[in-house]
Amino acid sequence: MKAAVFHKPGDIRAENIEDPIIEHAEDVILKVTSTAICGSDLHILDGFIPQVKDMVMGHEFMGIVEETGLGVTKLRKGDRVVVPFPIACGHCFFCAQGLSPACEHSNPEKYGPEGNILDNKGGALFGYTDLYGGYNGGQAEYVRVPYANFGPRKISDALTDEQSLFLTDIFPTGWSAIDWAKLKGGETVAIFGSGPVGLMAQKAAWLKGAGRVIAVDILDYRLARAKSANNVEIINAHQVDAIEVIREMTGGRGADVCVDAVGLEADRTFLDKVKATINFEKGTISVLEACIRAVRRGGTVTVVGVYGTPFDNFPVHRIFDKGLIMQFGQAPVQKYIDELIGIVESGKVVLNDILTHTLPLSEVTHAYDIFKKKEDNCIKVILKPGM
Ligand SMILES: NC(=O)c1ccc[n+]([C@@H]2O[C@H](COP(=O)([O-])OP(=O)(O)OC[C@H]3O[C@@H](n4cnc5c(N)ncnc54)[C@H](O)[C@@H]3O)[C@@H](O)[C@H]2O)c1
Ligand SMILES: [Zn+2]
Ligand SMILES: [Zn+2]
Repeated sequence: MKAAVFHKPGDIRAENIEDPIIEHAEDVILKVTSTAICGSDLHILDGFIPQVKDMVMGHEFMGIVEETGLGVTKLRKGDRVVVPFPIACGHCFFCAQGLSPACEHSNPEKYGPEGNILDNKGGALFGYTDLYGGYNGGQAEYVRVPYANFGPRKISDALTDEQSLFLTDIFPTGWSAIDWAKLKGGETVAIFGSGPVGLMAQKAAWLKGAGRVIAVDILDYRLARAKSANNVEIINAHQVDAIEVIREMTGGRGADVCVDAVGLEADRTFLDKVKATINFEKGTISVLEACIRAVRRGGTVTVVGVYGTPFDNFPVHRIFDKGLIMQFGQAPVQKYIDELIGIVESGKVVLNDILTHTLPLSEVTHAYDIFKKKEDNCIKVILKPGM
């Protein structure tokens, strides 16, 4: 089959490799109809999250069930499904609490309570390095989907792939960032990052009753999309001091909720890069710091942007003095997905208005390139193995 194989940082190519096979009774083999590239994939491509062996990338995918293991009770050949990006068993201590990214069974080699990047990690993700379980991903013609009684969800034929694919990751991720903030209604929510995840958080903020939604980014074309798709107020952090502007917009107090939808690969100055090299840090926490400064006293900061190493000078003093509430992490997609499918089916939200490029899987190298370099006004790319 054809698949997008990661070889080393900067090197991803469409290649022919062996088809996946059923390895456990609860596996299905999925014929992928659509798959997307995520900002999280860039962390691997850019070498911030290490991977030595060749691996098929991709954790956002949907398709048609091609083959089922003997223990699969919920799916049949021919079913059309979306697949949550965390690989999780569905019955361990954490899965039972709706914490699928912390599954105790899906990542046996690296699992542990410490929460380190190199060992003692949480559960597994599709196509996301040996540290996250070593599973091949879905940027391919076929993919093996473990725990198929718990992860995949059937999708109505009334919805196109484009309308439903973002239920696998970015809509539940944006939703998590807002759900964690426990809005009561009327709050001002400032979302840092207007990439695919930030754009989905903007949609979730309106759906959950925000009174005002402010988008912060450094690229005008992404802010323009935030405004046209989601009717939010916008701030370009390269043109103005975003923290000052947010305070001015909120009577000097700051936003009730700030969301970090950027993570470790925020833009960096030369000095940031030198400091990170000296301290063995990967990337920067500048956006997290900005969220902590831009939120009001007693407010909430939620963090779905990814961070992978410890950072010194973390502003614990500000968090304490302002009495902040904070929540971080991978999105527990399995917890939210049924509710979110219902919201998409009802027409209360449209997800595909952030899509800018649909390309054949064979053009994966080019697709990663424009997404990473933010060229050709790229926001979100769907790859089609059948195109
Ligand atoms: N927690 C989860 O479960 C989960 C799931 C999906 C993605 N993510 C993470 O979410 C983050 C965003 O993903 P994405 O697909 O939207 O990526 P992306 O790279 O397309 O978007 C990031 C956006 O941040 C903007 N940005 C960079 N520096 C900035 C700054 N200083 N201030 C404001 N904006 C800035 C960029 O211009 C870009 O638009 C990534 O870290 C990704 O790994 C997490
Ligand atoms: Zn993702
Ligand atoms: Zn589990």
